[in-house]
Amino acid sequence: MSTPLATVDITDLTTHGAVLHFTFTDELGRPHRAFLLRHGDTLRAFENRCPHWSTPLDEHGDHLYDRASDTLVCATHGARFLPDDGHCVSGPCTGDSLTPLAVHPTDDPTRVRITRQGLRL
Ligand code: FES
Repeated sequence: MSTPLATVDITDLTTHGAVLHFTFTDELGRPHRAFLLRHGDTLRAFENRCPHWSTPLDEHGDHLYDRASDTLVCATHGARFLPDDGHCVSGPCTGDSLTPLAVHPTDDPTRVRITRQGLRL
């Protein structure tokens, strides 16, 4: 497993569409905003940075997830992303993607560990 970026308390992520913000510091000491989404029985994590202008998705709005369309939404220009993988399906960054993070269980059922996804060489 890659180096943990954060350990997050998920006690409040009980309902579909619930979002929990957290921050982490990367390997170079840079701060990042991120969020966890409860999507059905799955927890998804992404950096909270739109691939269009690199702003947080909710910088100009008060929610990230739109239940009606089942998409994550950037409030700045309306880009929409699939909650399963962060792929942008409409808006100015169509075809691009949010940066997904990996979510791992811990020995404590109320906490998860967040790491980068994929193989870092
Ligand atoms: S900054 Fe997100 S769509 Fe433009």
